[in-house]
Amino acid sequence: MLSKKMEAALNAQINAELWSAYLYLSMSAHFAAEGKPGISHWFKAQFDEEQGHAMKIFEYVVERGGKVELKAIGEVTQSWASPLAAFEDTLKHEQIVTAKINDLVTLAREEKDYATESMLQWFVNEQVEEESTAQGYIEALRMIKDNGFGIYTFDKELRGRQ
Ligand code: FEO
Repeated sequence: MLSKKMEAALNAQINAELWSAYLYLSMSAHFAAEGKPGISHWFKAQFDEEQGHAMKIFEYVVERGGKVELKAIGEVTQSWASPLAAFEDTLKHEQIVTAKINDLVTLAREEKDYATESMLQWFVNEQVEEESTAQGYIEALRMIKDNGFGIYTFDKELRGRQ
């Protein structure tokens, strides 16, 4: 059985994951309108992935006999000056999510809730990958700068994401 405190914290994380999904869907919409289908596709896949993260915690809360409560999702930015600006925002956002996951692990340890701590390890590892991916794209886009062919090639590469 989850403690009320842990249940509330996990519900807050479900909200944060759905907020992430909403942000990436907004980025997908922005780049679709900008004629960059590959970047739009990449953020759409990211939207799907974040919903998966929310559902992972949703199912865990249910499995532990808790109650999922869905609150309002915060507003997100609607446009970005460039692909670089969007990936910089992505990295900043993922760093916030990482801090939230770390706080959850700390709470699970304080509560001696080792099952929740174990479940959260998947997210700890996932965040390393999320930050590293965003950082890699930032570095590539910093090299590309305003080079039109570079942006075209970058967009084409991102179309390949499964
Ligand atoms: Fe679910 Fe990108 O953190």
